[in-house]
Amino acid sequence: MDQKKYEIGYTTGVFDLFHIGHLNLIRRAKELCDYLIVGVNTDELVRDYKGKTPIISFEQRLEIVASIRYVDEAIAQTDLDKLKAWEVLRFNALFQGDDWMGHPRYIKTEADLKTVNADMIFLPYTKEISTTSLIEKIRK
Ligand code: CTP
Repeated sequence: MDQKKYEIGYTTGVFDLFHIGHLNLIRRAKELCDYLIVGVNTDELVRDYKGKTPIISFEQRLEIVASIRYVDEAIAQTDLDKLKAWEVLRFNALFQGDDWMGHPRYIKTEADLKTVNADMIFLPYTKEISTTSLIEKIRK
């Protein structure tokens, strides 16, 4: 079955120490939409919900993401509420790695987005690499 193609797609993340898992996610998201917007979490937001500060500054993470050929627009994400982002961006689908599937915040996000007719799409998480595992490797 052909996967549905969306007009505007949105995906978000920290994208700290940019790695192949991030690239795979962004490439797959772009395959499923005509125009891909990527929300890069500000340092302040990351501190709020993860309790740690990214290694690479927000400005540099934004610049790296904006330079990727699959990305049509990179913006700051200052709030985790995807419905608020939808009010501004009017995306048709939100893409996220499937490591977030079943997480209470995303169960709510999926329900919220349904009310505005936007789909929540989980894409396969790339195994064996993450910012956290890279930091652990460097520290060893
Ligand atoms: N992602 C992915 N595969 C990975 C790592 C991340 O598909 N191996 C996806 C996440 O699911 C998310 C996006 O990439 O949709 C941004 O994830 P982010 O939290 O910035 O990256 P992580 O490497 O998972 O960071 P951390 O280890 O700090 O959680």
